[in-house]
Amino acid sequence: MADVAHAPAAPEVTGWGATQRTDNWWLGPLLTFLGLGAFVVYSTFRAILNKDYEVGPLLSPFYSPHLGHWGLGLPDWLSPAFLILWAPGGFRFTCYYYRKAYYRAFVQHPTACAVGEPHTGYSGESAFPLILQNLHRYFMYLAVLFLVFLWHDVWKATRWPVAGGASEFHVSMGTLVLLVNTSLLSGYTFGCHSLRHLIGGKIDCYSCVAFGDARQDLWRGATWFNVNHMQWAWCSLFGVGFADFYVWMVASGRWTDFRIV
Ligand code: FES
Repeated sequence: MADVAHAPAAPEVTGWGATQRTDNWWLGPLLTFLGLGAFVVYSTFRAILNKDYEVGPLLSPFYSPHLGHWGLGLPDWLSPAFLILWAPGGFRFTCYYYRKAYYRAFVQHPTACAVGEPHTGYSGESAFPLILQNLHRYFMYLAVLFLVFLWHDVWKATRWPVAGGASEFHVSMGTLVLLVNTSLLSGYTFGCHSLRHLIGGKIDCYSCVAFGDARQDLWRGATWFNVNHMQWAWCSLFGVGFADFYVWMVASGRWTDFRIV
């Protein structure tokens, strides 16, 4: 039996994709590339389309808040989605989880743990352009604000106009689609690392600060969501895309929004 101390060293492997790993390390980056790429293409197409984003009390999350109701008088060539999507898009683009995912899937920097990559240098996120990733905390403030609009949309989707200008309580498939979408987006946002840090993660001594018990409870809640932040990220991405698709299909007459209550 060979002496471990004198065992022959494993042959060195170098170059892009070179590795001694035997698992399917490439599967995660490939799925990220396909999933994230498909969402970017779809959301861009829907923003350019600039129609079929509202039907009855249903509003697509890509077009929320409804800027037309704010009396902004936008020109026809300017889709309101472009004035909206930069905020939730920036929130996702700078998300700590998504950074890891798309650095690997799109930039190959790194390709994966213990896998050769095509880049040689790395300056971290302390120099331009990656220092801009630190804007995440500001996008987080906007994301929380957008949740207020989206929950308002869910409430509006329970009100159905009736004769005389009144409205009555109503639940349709569309109401449930918006409810699930906004719940998933809330779970994703509440598990944000920046939010968790802000509400309690930066505190060393809860009994030494004002509202320490409440902040610790909030921090525990954010931690609960944060544990599965990746899953919230993907489910909410699919949810927001499907919510827009549902409204598109109903608004264009292809699907019927069945009333449940
Ligand atoms: Fe992912 Fe903030 S870290 S949303």
